[in-house]
Amino acid sequence: MTSAALRDLRAEFPALDEGLCFLDWGASGLLPARTRAAMQAFLEKLAACPTAQSVWMWGEHGDGEGTRGRARAAIARMLGAKADDVALVESTTAGLQTAAESARVQEGDNVVLWEHDYPAVAIPWTVRARSRKLEVRFARTKDGAPDVDDLVARIDDRTRVVAVSTIGWTTGALVDLDAIAAETRARGIVLAVDAVQTFGVAPLDVRAVPASYVACGGHKWLCSPLGAGFLYAEPRTAARGRPQRFGLLAGRPARHSDWTAWFRSGEGGPDEEVVFPASGAALETGGQPSWPGAIGLAAATELLASAATGETLRHVRDLGDRLIAGLDTLGLETISPRDPTRRAGIVVFRAPRGREQELAWCDALRRRRVAVTPRWSKGLGGVRVCLHAMNLEADVDRLLDELRALPR
Ligand SMILES: Cc1ncc(COP(=O)(O)O)c(C=O)c1O
Repeated sequence: MTSAALRDLRAEFPALDEGLCFLDWGASGLLPARTRAAMQAFLEKLAACPTAQSVWMWGEHGDGEGTRGRARAAIARMLGAKADDVALVESTTAGLQTAAESARVQEGDNVVLWEHDYPAVAIPWTVRARSRKLEVRFARTKDGAPDVDDLVARIDDRTRVVAVSTIGWTTGALVDLDAIAAETRARGIVLAVDAVQTFGVAPLDVRAVPASYVACGGHKWLCSPLGAGFLYAEPRTAARGRPQRFGLLAGRPARHSDWTAWFRSGEGGPDEEVVFPASGAALETGGQPSWPGAIGLAAATELLASAATGETLRHVRDLGDRLIAGLDTLGLETISPRDPTRRAGIVVFRAPRGREQELAWCDALRRRRVAVTPRWSKGLGGVRVCLHAMNLEADVDRLLDELRALPR
């Protein structure tokens, strides 16, 4: 059953009704029509400079009521946070790196990760571990997600950080963040969460799941352009943390009200102190931001948040049930949880002859305009199918029909 809100949402993705069966949101989403229009309008103005003022974008698209402010506010609403807790960053990877730089970790400390997580979650720590005698511990897997008992058993009084995704990117099994966050909060450990494979589909409320940091690229399930995402920092963590990089525009010159006043006064110099807010917003570490990225992120996030409030998760779980039932009929093994409450939008299944066949099937499906991706982590995975709010039962049935026709 598809509601009017979800049907309206699908209309923003005309390619879905023009022969494309798109089930690959976990790799990179499609751009909604209104997002493309908002970005195009920006590009036209950038080419024409209608007010003869070259930095016009700061008014229309800057902080507060401007587009960057709107993007922060829309993301904060989805997280149950405040706009000031959110920095707009380039990607999940960039956000996780900034979080790692800000955490207080010393020689002899350890960090707990998950053995099948995405490399971007591990890299900030595995690289540091080589040069700083930091220990990295990997929790084992149970039913496609971190085994929480095993993860908790690896925590000791030298554990400073637990970094984990919200879902298994090659299994579709939701991670029990409630249990992990309860443990990290009780022990004062930083919890860095990679939400890129669920944000936009499954709710993540930081009032209920007390993460220290949440990093998320916008280009997957949020359907914004590539190169735009966010990093949330919990207020006390942000106040205590030590950013290693300082973006000029995240700060304010101490003797002027803002940078515009600094420029206009003619008196400011490089020796003037710059004050940075003690909040997540200080974690924007660059210079001029990606304006098209922020415009796309604001438009897409507002669209997804408003069109499908509360309904998306139930919808994708229903589609997942339908897909799994169809895969059963075809005799194909599903490795994602059968229990819908343990899934969000990802369902992963295996081809009978394993990895080579999964690669071949994905190529063959793509030639038939069905987009799915093969994904594994240390052998765990298969063909990954991503089901979003704008997919219909017809998309699932088309995939199943195409699979039926493939050579075994
Ligand atoms: C779990 C997970 N984290 C991070 C990434 C990378 O995201 P980004 O390109 O935003 O850094 C991916 C996929 O590319 C992913 O699946």
